Amino acid sequence: MRILSIAAEAAPYVKVGGLADVAGALPTALAERGATVEILLPGYRSIDRKKWGFEPVGSIALDYAVKRVDVELQRVRRQDGVTVTLVHDAAAFDRPGVYDDPQTKEGYRDNPERYAFFARVAAELALIDTPDLIHAHDAHGALVPALLKTVLKPRVRRRVGHVLTIHNLAHPMRAASKVLFDVGFPQDAFFPLSPLEFHGAANFLKTGIAYADAITTVSPRYALEIQTEEFGNGLDGLLRDRRSVLFGILNGIDTKEWDPATDKHLPATYSAKQLAGKKTCREKLLSDFNLAAAPSTPVFGIVSRFADQKGLELIAHVAWELSKLDVRVVVLGSGQEKYQRLFQELQRARPDQFGVYFGFHEPLAHQIEAGADFFLMPSLFEPCGLNQMYSLRYGTLPIVRRTGGLADTVIDVETDPERGNGFAFDAPDPRAFLAKIRAACALYQDKKRLEKIQKRGMATDFSWTTAATKYLALFEKVTA
Ligand code: ADP
Ligand code: GLC
Repeated sequence: MRILSIAAEAAPYVKVGGLADVAGALPTALAERGATVEILLPGYRSIDRKKWGFEPVGSIALDYAVKRVDVELQRVRRQDGVTVTLVHDAAAFDRPGVYDDPQTKEGYRDNPERYAFFARVAAELALIDTPDLIHAHDAHGALVPALLKTVLKPRVRRRVGHVLTIHNLAHPMRAASKVLFDVGFPQDAFFPLSPLEFHGAANFLKTGIAYADAITTVSPRYALEIQTEEFGNGLDGLLRDRRSVLFGILNGIDTKEWDPATDKHLPATYSAKQLAGKKTCREKLLSDFNLAAAPSTPVFGIVSRFADQKGLELIAHVAWELSKLDVRVVVLGSGQEKYQRLFQELQRARPDQFGVYFGFHEPLAHQIEAGADFFLMPSLFEPCGLNQMYSLRYGTLPIVRRTGGLADTVIDVETDPERGNGFAFDAPDPRAFLAKIRAACALYQDKKRLEKIQKRGMATDFSWTTAATKYLALFEKVTA
């Protein structure tokens, strides 16, 4: 099977969040199972062409807005059988940021235009390469099925299956309708309640959900949640209509990159059998942040985009109560200013308890996963979430709100002592969260029990094997 995977980010080339982990690792897992995969990415300025070996491979001519444009493609064919192609377009992607302008810290105003253009190039590439299946990720690739099934249909020479994966319904890419006409849709296709229209404007995810042959989300629980008004972001009705082709496939994690037994970012490695190195990681982490702690003082870690989704309001609500406990908290993240200020204030007030680092720092993310005893992730919604899985693999007990992928991966040890691997609470209520933090502190004093639970989490298989098999089965069904 030949697959074209379309994503706005993919590790190791460009990463903002978990989408990159998934769009980077899944193609490799599919290739290991015999598929031929090409990843199409925007050619952002930050992607180091030389380091990764990208070479120009010609250009694609297309009509966009009122002009004909030539778009250069750059490509690398990797050892693992995956090809990666960049859309090298200066106007759209040669900028300092990926989605956001680093100066204003806000999204680029023309993001809808940038990604509609990207989708159009993807569709043109598909016309040339004729894959069996197009796997579009999130809003950035969501216009592709509609383009190939309507305006570009006369040029489609071979049947192609379309699967859209929703990583986050909260970012549907809404914009004035003009962007749709620029990309090639006729004006008369845009009318109230049509697949192109959402409250008088464009909504790329809506269009993708309407036209894809199958839709997946990144956890089974999230697939159910988005069919409700609470999580549906206005698309729950359409998603309910399409539920016969809507599936939840839990993400895997890159178990090579995230392995405490071999992790090159750690001061010491460890495994479920040999946990001693985790203590070294904890000590090093504390000293890196100038924090002193007795062996009986638990360390809580946070690695997060600073966005409302991540439940940082809940953290703000419990922060002062938390600081009254004998705990240490280490935070890594970047994003919304208000949350940065929150952690700044906490650190200023309690420098002996809070350590913070603002920015994107891959090694530190690993060091926190390894050095912390507990990981805080009280998300308001979470399509899948990767950090709780990294935590489990690193013997760090996650404390999560029971939503989306967090509900599918973390089992509360208070309600299910036999199978529990962390802590989970339901209501987005600071008291419920604080109760779990207190329970974690208590558990920390019972080292034998703690270790048993740590090892349970560490033994879980989070590799891509299961997910890749499920994706392939779905792709085969869609292309049959
Ligand atoms: P989301 O994609 O919604 O941000 P996920 O949990 O799926 O959430 O994925 C987040 C990914 O980004 C993880 O790999 C996490 O380690 C990483 N990450 C988030 N913030 C940072 C940061 N400041 N520095 C390094 N890695 C980060
Ligand atoms: C999105 C979601 C996150 C998920 C990731 C990868 O960024 O917010 O929950 O883990 O995509 O699928």
